[in-house]
This record gives sequence, C-alpha cells and structure tokens, in this order.
Amino acid sequence: MKVPSFSSARVLIVGDVMLDRYWFGDVERISPEAPVPVIKVGRIEDRTGGAANVARNVASLGAKATLLSVVGDDEAGNSLEALLKNEGVSALLHRDKSISTTVKLRAIARHQQLLRIDFETQPSFEILESVLADFISEIHHADVVILSDYGKGGLGHIEKMIRIAREANKPILVDPKGEDYSRYRGATLITPNRSEFRQVAGSWKSEEELEKKAQNLRKELELDALLVTRSEEGMSLYREAGVLHEGVKAREVYDVSGAGDTVIATFGAMLATGSPFEDSMRMANRAAGIVVGKLGTAVATPQELENQEK
Ligand SMILES: Nc1ncnc2c1ncn2[C@@H]1O[C@H](COP(=O)(O)OP(=O)(O)OP(=O)(O)O)[C@@H](O)[C@H]1O
Ligand SMILES: [Mg+2]
Repeated sequence: MKVPSFSSARVLIVGDVMLDRYWFGDVERISPEAPVPVIKVGRIEDRTGGAANVARNVASLGAKATLLSVVGDDEAGNSLEALLKNEGVSALLHRDKSISTTVKLRAIARHQQLLRIDFETQPSFEILESVLADFISEIHHADVVILSDYGKGGLGHIEKMIRIAREANKPILVDPKGEDYSRYRGATLITPNRSEFRQVAGSWKSEEELEKKAQNLRKELELDALLVTRSEEGMSLYREAGVLHEGVKAREVYDVSGAGDTVIATFGAMLATGSPFEDSMRMANRAAGIVVGKLGTAVATPQELENQEK
C-alpha cells in the first residue's frame, strides 16, 4: 500500500495533555534528613505526553495538527507550548490559573527510576466551557477529530463534542479510558487496548468470543467501528461488515510506550486524506511497528512508512 500525501489532511486533537519530565542525575549519598538517596540532577529532559503526543504524531506525518487542550499558567505549560511549536503542532492551550499542568516527573539515576511524582488537577468548569466554544469554531477547519482521553478531566464536554462532530459530518476517533464508555456513544471509532477492552467487556477465551464482545459493544455504543489494539498480537477492527485483523509488523521491539498514540494519530490522519478504514488500519499498524522499535514515545515519518512498504 502506497503512503498517501498528508499535506492537505487536517486533524483536530482534543484531550488531556501532559508533560513527561525526566531528571537524570547521580546518587552519591544518603540524605541526612531521611533514609533516602540524594540525587544530584545533571540533566533535565521534557517530552510531550498524552494528547500532545498524539498531535506530535499527526504532525510528523506531515498533516496539519491542531491541538485543543488545557494547561496551567505555569512553567510546565510553557515548556509544553514550546515543545509543540517545535514539533509543528498548532496548539490552542487554554491556561487555567487555578490548576497546575499535568506533569509526570521521573527521577532517574544509573538508568534506574527512583521515583515518579505526578502533578494533576481537574480543569475548572469555566475553562472547559471555553474549550467547548473553541471546539465549535475549530471543527469547521478539520477533516477528522481525535479525542484523546487520559482520564484527567479535560474532556468534560465529550458527549457534546461527539454530537457536534456527527452533525458536522466529521469522523470522530476516541482513545478511551475508564469503565464508563457510554460517554463515547455515537463516535465513529474507539481504540481500546486489550486490557482496556477487557475492563469494560470482560475476558474472552477464543477469537469468536472476543468478536462477539466487540460487536456487542460496538452496537450498544452506536459506533461505526471498534479497534482493539492487542500489543504483540497486532490489532483487530470490528465493523458491521465483520472483522479485519492485522498481525504485528515490528522486527525489533525496544519500547512500546506511546504506541497507542501513534495508532490513533495515523488512523485519523489516514481518514483525513480520504483513505478507507482498511488502509487506515494497515497504515496505523505499520506506524506502530516503527515506533515500538524506537526508544521512548516516538513518531513515524512518511519516509519510514514508505520504507516498510511491501
Ligand atoms: N510487543 C509488541 N510487539 C510488536 N508490536 C507491538 C507490541 N506492542 C505494541 N505493538 C504495536 O503497537 C500497537 C498498539 O499497542 P498496544 O495495544 O500496546 O497499545 P496501548 O497499550 O494503547 O499503547 P500505549 O498505551 O503504550 O500507548 C499494536 O497494535 C501493535 O501494532
Ligand atoms: Mg493507550
């Protein structure tokens, strides 16, 4: 399958953004204050996380990525904004003075994570209203909408967003979280991974049983399609017409974190070029195979996708 040109594809990404922050340093002594190691930080690295990583993946394909989200009015928010600009994402970040930007801070010494510290606050009602207002004006400039739900409260108006996107005839893809999927009713496609799907539909013992569960959930939620991403088993797409399965493409696996972000980003960008579901899924799987072969949350480029063509 040829890689299409993404240059006129426009994708609107809405959801929970976060900053993945790494403090690298050395441990030379134990603290005199408490029995804990003292890390002397030598290097700090910031990376985009959550919906911001989805947007970065869309941009790396050469599509136009517009990101709509909430951050705090703080230094971490500034860092996210700068990273996104650097990656070619148009970011509409609403600054909520009452919260801190979601940050996952890791302290790492000798390649070992010693501690992770999370900063997380729910956005305020007023800010979520202003995000919805932006959504209503931005949707007309998008071909596809991706909602990236990381359960941090940034998608407070998700039901309205899905309804508005439907009315505007824009495909709407959701990366789900949690146990209540009724919020995603009427979306075009949702992309749970294996354990997320098991959490809402229960476990299965055979492919037939999985298919039955997937189709039941798809019908119940009035979705066009349900994509279960299955780690080393690849991915399966369930639609009215039946199931389509793709095995994994990866030759070497280094780091699977962020593969789900790459899947929904590529799927969405493909649909935005006018590609059919089958091709979009195959390209998403190809892109996932590329990023799991890289360290950290990574992206795939059109050239790399081209090189994988068989
Ligand atoms: N171990 C693996 N070997 C080969 N391919 C993999 C592996 N793990 C993931 N992939 C590829 O990445 C896709 C998405 O992975 P997965 O189902 O783990 O999503 P996810 O759990 O949402 O990822 P994350 O939450 O880390 O972003 C898979 O469908 C597959 O194509
Ligand atoms: Mg995921």
